[in-house]
Formats: sequence, structure tokens, C-alpha cells
Amino acid sequence: PEENIFNFVLFGATGDLAMRKILPALYAAHRDGKLQAGGRIVCVAIQDFSKESYLAWVDANAAPHVKGEGPGLSESPSWRDFVQRIDYVMLNATQPGDYARLAAQLLPNAITVFYLATTPKLFEAICANLGASDIDLSQARVVLEKPLGHDLRTSRAINDAVARVFEENQIYRIDHYLGKESVQNLLALRFANSLFEPLWSRDSIEHVQLTIAEQLGVEGRGEFYDGTGAMRDMVQNHLLQLLCMVAMEPPISMDADAIRDEKVRVLRALKPFTPQELETKAVRAQYASGAVNGKAVPGYHNEPGIAPESTTESFVALHAEINNWRWAGVPFFLRTGKRLAQRSAEIVITFRPIPHAILPMPGGGASANRMVIKLQPEESIQLHCLAKQPGDSMTVRPVVLDLSFEQAFRQKRAEAYERLLLDVIRGNLSLFVRRDEQEAAWRWVEPLLNYWESPQMLASPPRSYIAGSWGPTASSSMMMRAGASWPEDR
Ligand code: BG6
Repeated sequence: PEENIFNFVLFGATGDLAMRKILPALYAAHRDGKLQAGGRIVCVAIQDFSKESYLAWVDANAAPHVKGEGPGLSESPSWRDFVQRIDYVMLNATQPGDYARLAAQLLPNAITVFYLATTPKLFEAICANLGASDIDLSQARVVLEKPLGHDLRTSRAINDAVARVFEENQIYRIDHYLGKESVQNLLALRFANSLFEPLWSRDSIEHVQLTIAEQLGVEGRGEFYDGTGAMRDMVQNHLLQLLCMVAMEPPISMDADAIRDEKVRVLRALKPFTPQELETKAVRAQYASGAVNGKAVPGYHNEPGIAPESTTESFVALHAEINNWRWAGVPFFLRTGKRLAQRSAEIVITFRPIPHAILPMPGGGASANRMVIKLQPEESIQLHCLAKQPGDSMTVRPVVLDLSFEQAFRQKRAEAYERLLLDVIRGNLSLFVRRDEQEAAWRWVEPLLNYWESPQMLASPPRSYIAGSWGPTASSSMMMRAGASWPEDR
């Protein structure tokens, strides 16, 4: 097919994700001239909308989510031009007969992207019905949103169903953390510089911390979240993908499979928790009422859609280890939670302390160098070092070598979804998760989930933490046992 012709078919086109992320990202790509002219967006959902009424819904519900644009966006020429690309098809995903209406809307001889922004319960039916329809799938790609399954067994079942219709190299499992600029910058930092790689192992690194902290609660997604929890929502995918980016061996090239081969090796090397470690190296908790940014917020149990007796976790902290030559014995501390003190996602690499101090050190002890890679809210890389303080005495003080991407590259950066959607249209799989990666991640988290969901654990309520704090004290104790601490405890 010609490079500039595509059909972007969005299943679940009236849903939250379509409005908050996907249509705004497609608009941003359109506005910036990155979305090929002539490409169509075919929005599919079960609601009985006319094209006009659907477009009015999009004006009202998607336009306000475009970052950096004012309230009048839906009136602007560039938005009006964007919505010209959109068609609406009413379709019941489980009705094979309805797919003929979809087929009739597609441009022939084009790349066709099927974006499944629906509940995963529909993935199997959608794929089977696409397979049985008249639609030519030879140039098709399918994008699968998380959560892909509830555990290894259900994720396999979904993958099997999709694989009956699509080849693995047509399947784009999206993890939007991989679309964040700073995550890709981590690869650039590691593999475009000679400075860091010699230090990037157990010889020089004492431990690694990965934090994704959110101030948001469960928002309007209580029912979904209560059946999911932080482990399945954030750890199995986003945090483990970040861990792979830090820990993987240099790939032989930037080819999608070269990168994914290295990531899956990390996931396979994750050390399984022993029965005792399920208690000592893993913490889960739920938020109690408190205040975030000075505003009182209810506890988890008082959020809409949450079951009264729910034991679902909104916070997880783990002490992981990677059983390979590069990383054996190096703790990788992972944590994520809702209603924490700040919105912040960062990776902190702590290097080993100097072997012998000859200068008076701040705080008396041996201070360690740290590299802090901030993903959110702002993106930067900082190197924490010690330098001599000006003056007569040989006194050292911490200083920060700070690379702010905003200042270094005075250029607007694309949102994660924009980058990833363009990658799908262009056929670049590098930032998408391969089946074996996904299953290896499930294999590692599953024993913990089974433990937390065992009758013995379900019998007592989980730990709680005050909304607006940094999580339960057990998370700090887990660090102390390993001789480390979270930044806010230092
Ligand atoms: C999603 C989770 O995958 O990531 C949400 O389902 C979470 O619960 C979100 O809020 C966080 O993404 P970001 O990009 O805002 O950090």
C-alpha cells in the first residue's frame, strides 16, 4: 500500500480512553503535520450515533483533553480539519453480521490499524469476527490495550485468540510508558555514551529504585480498578518495562526484536520470591482518607464503585532481584501508588560509596553518587556528585549536574500516545510488548498475587496509608531491612 494511506479503526470509540488519550493524540499528530494526509479514522462503538452526533460528542469530550490548547479548540480550523477524517460506524462487536458495515467504510489498498480500546473481554470476538469478515487483513495491525488478562492463564487465552487471526508481527501490545521521551532517553544515555556502560553493573551500582507515584485516586474507574489493583495496573506492565530498560544488555541493534529479546531475558531472570520473601520483600496497602495538595480526599473504601470489603491494593512496594551476572545481588526497589504525596515518576541509580574517605564528608559518612532520571512531571537527568566548597578548607558538598530536556532541546515533545500511534501506522514494533515478554512478566508477579488473594490473606484487611503520604511505613521498613531508603526518608 502507499505509505500515506491508512485506516485507523478505533473500537471503543465512545469510551474514556478514546476521549482522553487516543483522539487527542491523533489530533496532535494531525496538527503537527505528522499524520499522513488522506488517512481515515473510523470510530466504532455500539451506541447509536449519527456521524454528526458522534462528532459533537468528540468536540465536547476529546478536544478538552488536548494538552496545551485553549477551550476554543473545537472551533479552530485545524480541529475542524482533523474531524473531517472521522467516520462513525455503529457495530455490535459480537455480531459477525455487523462487520460488513465496517468493511464498507475502509479505504482499499491501505494499511489498516485496529485499535482495541475496549474491555479485553471483547478482544477474542473482535479478532474472530474481523478474521471471518471480508476485510483484507494482510496489511492490518492490531493494537491491544492493557490490561491484557488478569493472570498468566487469561492473558494466554487472549493472546491465543488474537494469534488465530493475526501474526505476532502484526500485534502491537501498548504500554504507554515506553512512549515517554525520557524512557527512550534512557536507552540513548546507556547506549550512545561510553561513560555509563562500564559502571552499569553490580560492580558499581548498589541499588536501583523505580517509583511511579500518583496523586490521583481511582477517579471514575472505581469498579475497574477494584477488580485490578496496583500490581496488575502498574507493576506487571509499566514498572517492569522500566526495569527492563535499566537492566537489559545492549541489544545488537535497534530492531524491534533485538530490543525485545534483551527485555525478555531480564524478565526471565527476575528472581522468584521465596515463601518468606512474599512477606518481607513485598508490601501492599490501601489508602485511607487524608489530604492531597491540601485538599481533603476520601479513603479507598469511600470511593464510588469500590466494594465495601475490598482488599484490592492501591499501593505496592517490592524488593526485586535479577539473577544474572550483571545484576546478581543488586536490589531493584519498585513502588507505585495512588493518592501519594506527589505526582512523580523517577528512576534512581545509587552507586557504591567510595572505598575510603580522605576528605571530610557531609554527614560524616561515605556519600554515594546517584543518577536520577525523572520521567514526570518534568523530564530530566541529574547526576548527584560531591564538589569542593569554595574557601580555605577542603570541605565537600553535594552538587547536581542537571540535564533538563526542556532547556537542552527547546522543542515540544510528543505525548506518549502520539508517538506510539505514529509508530503503529509506520509499522515500528520496537516500543511494543511481545507476547513472551508479557507472559514472563505475569509469571513473575503471579505468585505474589496468589499469595495476596489466598484465603489466609483475604481474611484480614490490608495495610493502609494516609492519602497524601508516601505510603505505609512497611514500605520504609522493607527498605531499611535492605540497608536503603526512599528519597523522602533520607
Ligand atoms: C495507566 C493506569 O496505565 O497509567 C492508570 O491504568 C494510571 O491507573 C496511568 O493512572 C498513569 O499514567 P501516567 O502516564 O499518567 O503516569
